[in-house]
Amino acid sequence: MKAETNRLRGKGVCLISVVLICTIISIWSWEKTPALNISVPSQTKMQLLSENISFVSHEEAKTEAKRNEKKDKTAKQEHRPDFVDDSPQRSSLISQKEDNNRNNTTDNKVCNYAKGKWVLDNRRSFYSGFGCKRYLSKMWACRLTKRTDFAYEKLRWQPKDCQMEEFERSKFLRRMQHKTLALMGDSLGRQQFQSLMCMLTSGKKADDVKDVGKEYGLARAKGSPRPIGWAYRFLSTNTTILFYWSANLCDVEPIDGSNPRSGQAMHLDRPPVFLRQYLHKLDVLVLNTGHHWNRVKFKANRWVLHVGGVPKTDKKLATMESAKNLTIHSIVSWVNSQLPKYPGLKVFFRSISPRHFVGGEWNTGGSCDNTTPMSVGKEILSEESTDQVAAHAVKGTGIKLLDITALSHLRDEGHISRFSISAKPGVHDCLHWCLPGIPDTWNEILFAQI
Ligand SMILES: *[C@@H]1O[C@H](CO)[C@@H](O)[C@H](O)[C@H]1NC(C)=O
Ligand SMILES: *[C@@H]1O[C@H](CO)[C@@H](O)[C@H](O)[C@H]1NC(C)=O
Ligand SMILES: *[C@@H]1O[C@H](CO)[C@@H](O)[C@H](O)[C@H]1NC(C)=O
Ligand SMILES: *[C@@H]1O[C@H](CO)[C@@H](O)[C@H](O)[C@H]1NC(C)=O
Ligand SMILES: *[C@@H]1O[C@H](CO)[C@@H](O)[C@H](O)[C@H]1NC(C)=O
Repeated sequence: MKAETNRLRGKGVCLISVVLICTIISIWSWEKTPALNISVPSQTKMQLLSENISFVSHEEAKTEAKRNEKKDKTAKQEHRPDFVDDSPQRSSLISQKEDNNRNNTTDNKVCNYAKGKWVLDNRRSFYSGFGCKRYLSKMWACRLTKRTDFAYEKLRWQPKDCQMEEFERSKFLRRMQHKTLALMGDSLGRQQFQSLMCMLTSGKKADDVKDVGKEYGLARAKGSPRPIGWAYRFLSTNTTILFYWSANLCDVEPIDGSNPRSGQAMHLDRPPVFLRQYLHKLDVLVLNTGHHWNRVKFKANRWVLHVGGVPKTDKKLATMESAKNLTIHSIVSWVNSQLPKYPGLKVFFRSISPRHFVGGEWNTGGSCDNTTPMSVGKEILSEESTDQVAAHAVKGTGIKLLDITALSHLRDEGHISRFSISAKPGVHDCLHWCLPGIPDTWNEILFAQI
């Protein structure tokens, strides 16, 4: 099994090296050669879709395994006074024609935001990685680490053949007046949440943002290192943004409440209680899952698969991939069945966020050391999503796919990489993204559709 994986990774390294060399040659002229379009190699596609081994962030693993063990690790910070929030004039990347179409909503309706290319934009980012301290976890703020390359902050996603409405915090808040946006999922969902909070506050201290976690039952349980979610309200517009942690998007309950060692029943065909309880209060819902469908996570959490209320032990569900597929189809179909009751509700399923471990896994020396943006290509032209499971699940439903897989796949340099402050030396995080960074783009694409 290992040998097989290593062989595949080995091939991946070769492939990526070749691509890297080729791209370095043309990197100086990339802006002039917009045709540089490399489709996702199937080998790499395999890597990003196979999730039976997955990066386990140390912080998360510990929190999940021992929710009761309070741990207060204050990470050593290094301030970098050399950060300048440079905002020179935006290069005129938006053509006149596109500008004219800015208010053509027909355009946006048919737009496939997953198609497009990355372009340089020195006006970015939306917030400083030194700021946003109230919402941004230190472990994801790469500006606080020893990392010295930040080119990854200066790229904007440009959808093909359509104008994506530019993200503006005031516009977002106005549109979401008296409304609630909820993100639900795993740590990548939490990254998107933190990114959104930073984008909406510009990373600055804002007194008019109130913690309303209690309204959603998100207060931190006694002895728990962190709450199961967060909710904040922008008082100026009465807009609520919340994140609820549900790594597998299904209902989890203790098998035997009186015996914590008995494990957790994971009901693949039941939506999380939180969703059933609060769906009526939501106006926008963004779901995601993906990186917790692996044996390591299942073992660590003592999860036992259940379908129809009974333990599922047959071989069919033995593979994580099919358990994940069943769950995604279940939750999408349940939420879809609720839509007639809530006509104003907009639901998105965010496709899987790609991993970029090369030469191993997170625990076997895998790394992602590239610092040159778009070494694997800068453009996506495929109409089809590379996350077939999610795409298949939402097909024919009222739930939209927030398809960020392929475009994020082009951004291997945007991961935390070896600058992870919570992991041991030598352990790279090629799963989570630096913030500011790629998840900001996911939110821009989300904004364009709400
Ligand atoms: C991951 O899953 C695939 C398909 O189920 C299998 O072929 C492969 O050996 C697995 N790898 C590991 C390391 O478990
Ligand atoms: C865009 O808006 C202007 C007025 O603001 C209007 O005159 C024009 O027809 C609109 N164009 C489209 C394509 O909707
Ligand atoms: C909006 O854009 C579409 C596609 O480019 C075009 O067919 C349509 O005529 C445009 N509508 C307006 C009002 O300009
Ligand atoms: C805020 O919005 C909620 C709906 O999300 C509404 O019920 C409530 O009355 C609003 N509060 C104020 C002060 O307008
Ligand atoms: C996922 O589940 C759906 C619905 O049960 C099924 O139609 C589809 O073939 C499954 N896909 C995979 C890859 O197992």
